[in-house]
Amino acid sequence: MVTGVMKSGEIINKAPVVTGLVNYEQAGKEFSWEAVKKELFLPDNPAKKANIAYEAIDKHAQSWRKNKVALYWEGPDGTRQKYTFLELKNLSDKCANMLRSIGVKKGDRVFIFLPRLPELYISIIAIAKLGAIAGPMFSAFGPDAVRDRLQNSEAKVLITTQELKERVDTVLWELPKLERIVLVDYRKEYELEEKDVCYATLMKDASDKFEAVGLELEDPLYILYTSGTTGKSKGITHVHYDMISYYITTKWVLDLRDEDIYWCTADPGWVTGTVYGLWGPWLNGVSSYIYDGRFDAAKWYEIIQTYKITVWYTAPTALRMLMKAGDDLIKKYDLTSLRYICSVGEPLNPEVIRWGVKVYQLPIHDTWWQTETGAIMIANYPCLPIKPGSMGKPFPGTKAAIIDGKGNELPAGQHGLLALQPGWPSMLRAVWGDEKRFREYFSINGWYATGDTAYKDEDGYFWFVGRADDVINTSGHRVGPFEVESALLEHRAVAEAGVIGKPDVERGEIIKAFVVLREGFAISKALEEEIKVFIKHRLAAHAYPREIEFCGNLPKTRSGKIMRRLLKARDLGLPTGDISTLED
Ligand code: PRX
Repeated sequence: MVTGVMKSGEIINKAPVVTGLVNYEQAGKEFSWEAVKKELFLPDNPAKKANIAYEAIDKHAQSWRKNKVALYWEGPDGTRQKYTFLELKNLSDKCANMLRSIGVKKGDRVFIFLPRLPELYISIIAIAKLGAIAGPMFSAFGPDAVRDRLQNSEAKVLITTQELKERVDTVLWELPKLERIVLVDYRKEYELEEKDVCYATLMKDASDKFEAVGLELEDPLYILYTSGTTGKSKGITHVHYDMISYYITTKWVLDLRDEDIYWCTADPGWVTGTVYGLWGPWLNGVSSYIYDGRFDAAKWYEIIQTYKITVWYTAPTALRMLMKAGDDLIKKYDLTSLRYICSVGEPLNPEVIRWGVKVYQLPIHDTWWQTETGAIMIANYPCLPIKPGSMGKPFPGTKAAIIDGKGNELPAGQHGLLALQPGWPSMLRAVWGDEKRFREYFSINGWYATGDTAYKDEDGYFWFVGRADDVINTSGHRVGPFEVESALLEHRAVAEAGVIGKPDVERGEIIKAFVVLREGFAISKALEEEIKVFIKHRLAAHAYPREIEFCGNLPKTRSGKIMRRLLKARDLGLPTGDISTLED
């Protein structure tokens, strides 16, 4: 509950809290991950052998929560389903047996290319039960993005739909390691191809008794691919031990309690949807709502009203779009069930927080983390005042710092690199198949370097400044310029391409491409459109350049590297800085 909004040196104070994280300072002093482990695991589980699926689902299915709804699901056509913890246990047991029947073993990579269907969630649990490694992929990905992930991970099985499989058909010949394709929506009129199997038929024959495989806590759980400045996207690999972080951050940052109905709007193809869409709430035995539909302001408010959502985890772009949809729309709905709102993925503008206080009577709590950190690392907590525009304070037991290029900590107020001291449970364990890129994260004197720049104020609050590299953040989606440039070069008309993030009021940044055409191609609106559609279809709907500028040449270093920094400075009319390495 908001108790007051001070405009000067703006602070949003809140009433004292009595559950969850009650006292931030004290929790920090007393914190130990061992204690969290003890709290999460049943006393008779020594945690030598464990499985996140047991802790998140099976344990509750054997407790008083067995008939509690774990998953409320709604499809784009309004179809509604719900699953109790016991039902999810039985279905994921069946699914684990089904996957075992087609040869999936511990350590195998099983990739999932599905809309947010219940089968997506059931498969993720089943894969964990088997000790196999899940690779959730966003359903808007194009053939190249899917191929790169399946190729790099050497995935053995792909779970998808008939419609999405069509998108993969063109690249199947490049995936010799892929043995089986499980179709969840298979209908008789389709002819199954060589590798195809039908989810429903196999599920029908599978037993619903499966004992989650006892794993070492360091056994891998999932791989999510994310972009850097150079090269293809990196397979960020997480392990079962992550659950310690998921459990306690969900409890203390998202403030989830048994009586909550929680809605995380992210897709499991992004880390937020995997960690806080399913594992975090279920480790805490909380009911999670999933909507498999597109953004629509009225629909979103209707969801909150209908399901009486109490805790909502969403993103700044969505909040900005809701703000744009207008306050009159809000008056049509009863949103009084909401008690706590959090945001992630991009800078959360102070005006959005002020607006939240006005229209929802609730402050929005920013949280900062990354695919690599596996869990929330810096946040605004229920028990602390909010400084609008700040990401908040490090999670208890976590050391975050602002450092220079040598790893020296910088004093309050000074801009520098945002770094974390390694040692939290959900830190990435590998970049799949690429030890060198994994080690790069720790190359500044042993710190984990986040790639972000930020500063800390006198009160220990962290403020986001930007990326230290060229990575683009568009609507909270991380996009590597190199990947877009590579895809652009595959278009027949493109000779050279340079890609930058351009500030945008709604999306944070949009992707802008500077393109040099090949001989024989003329600049036209039609060609521009063709290139946009080409990228949308190959890479992903969110990764296409909304703006294309045709130019005669691109600024390059003498070694031939495109100077994106210079493209950006020129585009925004900013000082161009040091251009001594420029080609001519
Ligand atoms: O630049 C930061 C931005 O998103 C990056 C991480 O992206 P990704 O791995 O896709 O994970 C996003 C969701 C966990 C960060 O390096 N970012 C994330 N949260 C915030 C943010 N930027 C500003 N404020 C945030 N709260």
